[in-house]
Amino acid sequence: MDLLLKDLSVKDRYKFLSAVVIPRPVAFVTTKNENGLYNAAPFSFFNVFSEDPALVVLGISTRPNGKSKDTVANIRSIKQFVVNMVDASIIGAMHIASADIPSDESEIDYAGISLVPSKTVDVKRIEQAPVSLECQLYQIMDLTERRSLILGEVLAIHIADELIDPESKRLIPEKYSPIARLFGEYYAWLGDRYAKSIPTFEEVKALGLKAGDIPKK
Ligand SMILES: Cc1cc2nc3c(=O)[nH]c(=O)nc-3n(C[C@H](O)[C@H](O)[C@H](O)COP(=O)(O)O)c2cc1C
Repeated sequence: MDLLLKDLSVKDRYKFLSAVVIPRPVAFVTTKNENGLYNAAPFSFFNVFSEDPALVVLGISTRPNGKSKDTVANIRSIKQFVVNMVDASIIGAMHIASADIPSDESEIDYAGISLVPSKTVDVKRIEQAPVSLECQLYQIMDLTERRSLILGEVLAIHIADELIDPESKRLIPEKYSPIARLFGEYYAWLGDRYAKSIPTFEEVKALGLKAGDIPKK
């Protein structure tokens, strides 16, 4: 089947694109408004795109009524936010925070999470999150009236101590298990891990493959 995007409704584009580009990590984003009211919401049009500058990108739509989501409004005014990664410890809170909670109320209490100060931004991070990325707004790209891309520069990474190997000071991959968003109401956990180095050109040539000889691994 071949799908031409120009023939698909916006709803179907979303359905197919979000079903085929999986898994996506979930950014559980904390922001605050000018009165200091905290907001937390999940976004899976999210990833890290470069390390110099260290950029993460969020793709955020407006609400169905065309109004800005609180996260976007807060980032426009405060210009800082925190991306909290989601593992089993805060998955329930993430689901609660995705509800349409009125703008003048905070998701934090409803979701049963607590906030602690960040090191480099004046927006708090989620205490129970395994990893938090403290971000300064780098650029907002308003692609259309309904869709903004938010580019954030990561100024600091907080990693829970239990995920760090005390000797190497590196993340222990087996202990870090962020949720993966699939499509709609479906999520997944990371499966088996494996390691494989990038082959040299000589190694590639030595395989002697030709078109149609699909390598086993
Ligand atoms: C796992 C998950 C991922 C989501 N990803 C996105 C996304 O990438 N972009 C978006 O606009 N909304 C996304 N949403 C919906 C927002 O979380 C939802 O609209 C939320 O109420 C926005 O909150 P806010 O108005 O407090 O910013 C997602 C929801 C869930 C549960």
